[in-house]
Amino acid sequence: MQQNTIQKRQESEENDSVRLKYRPLSCALDFDKCRIYALFLNNIMKNIVVLISGRGSNFEAILRTARSEDWEGRFGLKIAAVISNRPLAKGLDAVAVDHKAYPTREAFEEALTAAIEPYKPAVIVLAGFMRILTESFVARWEGKILNIHPALLPLFPGLDTHQRAIDAGCRVHGSTVHFVSSVLDGGAIIGQSVVPVLPSDTDETLAARLLPYEHKLYPQCVKAVALGEVKLIDGKAVMSDEVAHHLAIFWRKD
Ligand code: GAR
Repeated sequence: MQQNTIQKRQESEENDSVRLKYRPLSCALDFDKCRIYALFLNNIMKNIVVLISGRGSNFEAILRTARSEDWEGRFGLKIAAVISNRPLAKGLDAVAVDHKAYPTREAFEEALTAAIEPYKPAVIVLAGFMRILTESFVARWEGKILNIHPALLPLFPGLDTHQRAIDAGCRVHGSTVHFVSSVLDGGAIIGQSVVPVLPSDTDETLAARLLPYEHKLYPQCVKAVALGEVKLIDGKAVMSDEVAHHLAIFWRKD
């Protein structure tokens, strides 16, 4: 009888030790599950990196749209970093890579590349980024760098676009999102927004009418490229008719 009790206790202790042995194992399995899930998320999440120089209103519009449309949850698109080439440019936790701290354009771009690369971005968004990029930088990210220009390209590449549209007597003006190529404001066009030019316009009033339409256009273009709905193929922006409809945005009188 006593021997029976001793045997049972021994069995029970053995079971306990088996249970104890398994406990850390099940914890390890949970940890593994978490790690695998994190890796899985990492692989399916597509990062967007935004480069800014100034006030960052286009960046803010992209961020606002990404949040309101839940890009992360619905499409796995994440605005992973904001990089500014000016230390004082505003932005959400912007990383500063100050171009003035580098002796050459190449040295600046090396530092910029080092800041961008860890994110392995699916798309790099130039949002009022006022630095001319070298051919090799552009080639490194071909088909992934987007820019917004405040004119209906191919009209008015370069500066002073609003005044030039007024001076040319244009009745419409607009903004263009395009893939960045080695030609200034010359890459394949992804989308455009169009506003009227009024006889009373100054460059300020015209810029103010256009800006909200930049803010409508840019997030949709970024999303379309990040989702692979628009691709750069042989120098052309290739997309379906449906996507093209979506990326042509017209001014509406309120
Ligand atoms: C925007 O109007 C954009 O179109 C323009 O700079 C402004 C930046 O504003 N970009 C260019 O002129 C590029 N050639 P933001 O910093 O408020 O987005």
